[in-house]
Amino acid sequence: MSEKRIGIVMHGVTGRMGTNQHLVRSILAIRAQGGVALADGTRLLPDPLLVGRDAGKLQALAREHGIERWSTDLDRALESRDDAVFFDAASTQLRPKVLARAIAAKKHVYCEKPVATTLAEALALVRAARKARIKHGVVQDKLWLPGLVKLAKLRAEGFFGRILSVRGEFGYWVFEGDPARGQPPAQRPSWNYRKEDGGGIILDMLCHWRYVLDNLFGEVKAVSCLGATHIPWRWDEKGKKYRATADDAAYATFELAGGAIAQFNSSWCVRVRRDDLLTLQVDGTQGSAVAGLRDCRVQSYAETPRPVWNPDVPQPIDFYAGWREVPGEGYDNAFKAQWELFLRHVAGEAPFKWNLLEGAKGVQLAELALKSWKLRKWLPVPRLKA
Ligand SMILES: NC(=O)c1ccc[n+]([C@@H]2O[C@H](COP(=O)([O-])OP(=O)(O)OC[C@H]3O[C@@H](n4cnc5c(N)ncnc54)[C@H](O)[C@@H]3O)[C@@H](O)[C@H]2O)c1
Repeated sequence: MSEKRIGIVMHGVTGRMGTNQHLVRSILAIRAQGGVALADGTRLLPDPLLVGRDAGKLQALAREHGIERWSTDLDRALESRDDAVFFDAASTQLRPKVLARAIAAKKHVYCEKPVATTLAEALALVRAARKARIKHGVVQDKLWLPGLVKLAKLRAEGFFGRILSVRGEFGYWVFEGDPARGQPPAQRPSWNYRKEDGGGIILDMLCHWRYVLDNLFGEVKAVSCLGATHIPWRWDEKGKKYRATADDAAYATFELAGGAIAQFNSSWCVRVRRDDLLTLQVDGTQGSAVAGLRDCRVQSYAETPRPVWNPDVPQPIDFYAGWREVPGEGYDNAFKAQWELFLRHVAGEAPFKWNLLEGAKGVQLAELALKSWKLRKWLPVPRLKA
């Protein structure tokens, strides 16, 4: 069996997502399994070059995982002919600039979401990529989560009948990180809570909800969103107090093509009493489903209980009991699944629809949601043209 190397410049891999999901759980896992199998039997073996600002961190990361190549010289990495792909998981604000450079250097590009902090920048990237005729992709990992794959299958089988509504509950308590109060450190980077550093839950999560809704339930046609900054002060990675300038909760409603209505609560200021950190409830005329990241449970029309409102007696129905687990196993890590598709696409094998234009749609929705909040108004989501 022949093997083909594909060099990947990986920028921003010392960060949370870069290290865990992209380097370890995706690229190194793909290497460990012997690469991505192409149709002709060739194995495509990714060869990462770690690039960032901090030589010490890069060297330590490379050493820990037995990676030979690392560098602090982004220009040189982009000039190199050994690497066909550029990947970015560094800061959101920096992304349009580094992607533009990579596209100009004729690299195929793959990146984390959001692709930019403004729609104008996101669309400029789409145009540049088209002009340069490079291949491009944006992380839309939730589509490969087992819970959501099961929802997509139920929908394709017609289980729901006509889908009426989709309710998304996302969030958990992110600690403020006050050392004086003996709190554990915050479990997310502090830039998430600073608008001036590209933070905010609306920009972060509405990018996800856009592709989840578009792909699973119908294209998003209109949005109404109320944001909030519930926790005004937080403590950063160095234990220093800072003002939270970005939204940490978003209460959004969407109208979808086909008539379904979606409501998503996204918050870093809630305590979890539900099955998972993200749960999606889909209600249709013929049945309902509740999915978490991995599991999915259904209740058909015939299994639907018939409650009657009576606060004077203890609830006679166990509402949790009337649901069936959707079977399914053998799902791979969601980020890795999408990486494999992208690498096959770069090798000329598979189409890849999750590209920069799809990424721009996420930024469009986030931008409109922020505007809706500001204006306190429903806003249409126009079809994007690059
Ligand atoms: N797909 C998802 O579910 C998901 C989840 C979380 C974050 N993200 C996205 O991933 C990206 C990174 O988020 P994170 O949570 O890993 O953040 P992080 O702060 O942990 O990591 C950011 C990385 O970027 C590097 N960086 C920052 N500024 C840089 C610069 N000027 N030059 C070079 N490198 C620089 C940092 O050193 C670090 O390695 C963000 O765009 C975020 O929106 C996606």
